[in-house]
Amino acid sequence: MARSNLFLRAKIRHIVLTRTADRLTLGMLGRRHRAQPIEVRTVELCIPQWPQAYDGVRIAHLTDFHLGELMHVGQALDAVERVACLKPDMVACTGDVVDLDLHGMGAEDLLSAMGSMEAPLGRFLVLGNHDHLDDGHMLAAMASMRGLQVLHGAVVPVGDASDPLLVGGVDWASTVRALDQRVAELPQTPHLLLAHNPKAFHAAARRDIPLTLSGHTHGGQVAWKGKPRANVSFAHRLSAGLYQRNGCSLFVSVGAGAWFPLRVHCAPEVLVITVRRGAVQ
Ligand SMILES: [Fe+2]
Repeated sequence: MARSNLFLRAKIRHIVLTRTADRLTLGMLGRRHRAQPIEVRTVELCIPQWPQAYDGVRIAHLTDFHLGELMHVGQALDAVERVACLKPDMVACTGDVVDLDLHGMGAEDLLSAMGSMEAPLGRFLVLGNHDHLDDGHMLAAMASMRGLQVLHGAVVPVGDASDPLLVGGVDWASTVRALDQRVAELPQTPHLLLAHNPKAFHAAARRDIPLTLSGHTHGGQVAWKGKPRANVSFAHRLSAGLYQRNGCSLFVSVGAGAWFPLRVHCAPEVLVITVRRGAVQ
């Protein structure tokens, strides 16, 4: 199948930047990068508009594995397994499962691992920009077959049928304007929104969505020690951690993987987020 221009451009960027940088350091950059452990972080959020019936719900937030040369499937599977041991109620993957190539990197195994995690409130995926580079439709189909519900502008009820938690997800878009439209087109207002791009939060806050989970920024990958938001993700003001506006919250994970083999003061992470109904702290 013919590859898209976006895929070819990303491949060239990968060869020119990622591989060359690694070779110039005689492989040291890549070796060090792959040796960095993925941390399992636990976070507690207080969300004023969170439904009482779902107070204390625990969400495994997995994002930006970028399966490929810089993230071998074994390392990703190990991180998923460690999260699964914490027995979350829901799995929320906010995209960039793969870096470039969909096939040959173990995407099937990673999707199977996420899709088979025990999670009574469901397992959800929204696609990221990298997931669309090779074959986003195929990736979504593979995920669906393996137990992940892929949200393309949908809102689904989970939990108690008479008092459900509403989980929504929007597909990848790069601009605030396009994301505004995606959020506006959701058929109803969810309690939880999954969006790869944190820029969706502008529209989510206007629509009174209590909590948005995102990835995409990688926290800039290079940050000031002890100040994760002082980072080089210049295109993103919402780049790491918790943001609040109009009583609504956004949590941006710095993610597990990367497209460039360098992370400084920005440890790779997977999260288990406990969501409490309560005043912002
Ligand atoms: Fe990413």
